[in-house]
Amino acid sequence: MIEERRKRNYPKYYTRLGCCYNANAEDVLSTTLKRKYSGQVQLILTSPPFPLNQKKQYGNLQGQEYIEWLAGFAPLFARLLTPDGSIVMELGNAWEKGSPVQSLLPMKTLLAFVENQEAGLKLCQEFICHNPARLPSPAQWVNIERCRVTDSYTHIWWMAKSDRPKADNRKVLRPYSKSMEHLHDTQQYNAGKRPSGHNISESSFLINHGGSIMPNALEIESIDPTKDPRLPSNAFSISNTNSADHYHRACREQDILPHPARMAPELASFFINFLTDPGDLVLDPFAGSNTTGYCAELNGRQWVSIEAREDYVKQSRLRFTDLDLHTDKRKRIKGGKKE
Ligand SMILES: C[S@@+](CC[C@H](N)C(=O)[O-])C[C@H]1O[C@@H](n2cnc3c(N)ncnc32)[C@H](O)[C@@H]1O
Repeated sequence: MIEERRKRNYPKYYTRLGCCYNANAEDVLSTTLKRKYSGQVQLILTSPPFPLNQKKQYGNLQGQEYIEWLAGFAPLFARLLTPDGSIVMELGNAWEKGSPVQSLLPMKTLLAFVENQEAGLKLCQEFICHNPARLPSPAQWVNIERCRVTDSYTHIWWMAKSDRPKADNRKVLRPYSKSMEHLHDTQQYNAGKRPSGHNISESSFLINHGGSIMPNALEIESIDPTKDPRLPSNAFSISNTNSADHYHRACREQDILPHPARMAPELASFFINFLTDPGDLVLDPFAGSNTTGYCAELNGRQWVSIEAREDYVKQSRLRFTDLDLHTDKRKRIKGGKKE
């Protein structure tokens, strides 16, 4: 009992800009954080445990129990947000047990979360995060029976209390394509009416805004720094530097198995830069390896994280021994924008 109270009240570790609790999110959010940070959190960025049919290393609730559990966080989150704050939640797909049928659970969970009357949230926008390097799964249906294709994306839901939460897409521009750069150089554009009905004026595409506006389909891939970024028309490639980063090296050196469901750091940085300013407070209540806290620190935001498992909290601490956090190199890692 005393141990539980200590976990709720005191973070396990601190950094220059943040702190990490080792406790159940429901406990800390309804006690210590409610007291300290009500109305002050600009962004809650998190990937909760997914609604799986098989239990993962950190255990997951299932079915209706899962829906009620996650939707119960909506008022706790809403209370912590600033009036123009945002919630960004990543959730993967789920499959029915024993048959090649996709589960409606993630969608039902979203509905229950957004429609929780005590929270008053709206869905600002849905993002799709495609990871082409995902191993074929669900293995039984994709690899063995070959009757489904690889499940390769997660849903990211951006929600807020306000219709107009703080957001600025100019802070997360993607690099211009070669043809767009050429257009800026030549200043010549084929203006006129398009079959879609859009009327493109003489100067529509001639002004250089420093990059083009991001779409809501994101793609994670390893980027070869010697090559131009691949820019398909409907997706943006964010680099997945995961396996070569400081956290992985530090885990390897200490013989620690890295967290099995990490968020790509570029993805976290993208939402942090899009929806917050330096100095704002970012919260991750299901922090895992604390990608959110690390990216908040890199980008000069304050942060608070909560993780239930002690071993994950311990390994997440390794992220903050990264020297990049203490040098100008931190400016390099900016979601959506190559600096
Ligand atoms: C999908 S993982 C998050 C991964 C994280 N985004 C990262 O990049 O490493 C979900 C995490 O939530 C933790 N968790 C599950 N239930 C929790 C609870 N009630 N309170 C706090 N953390 C919890 C799990 O231990 C797991 O590490």
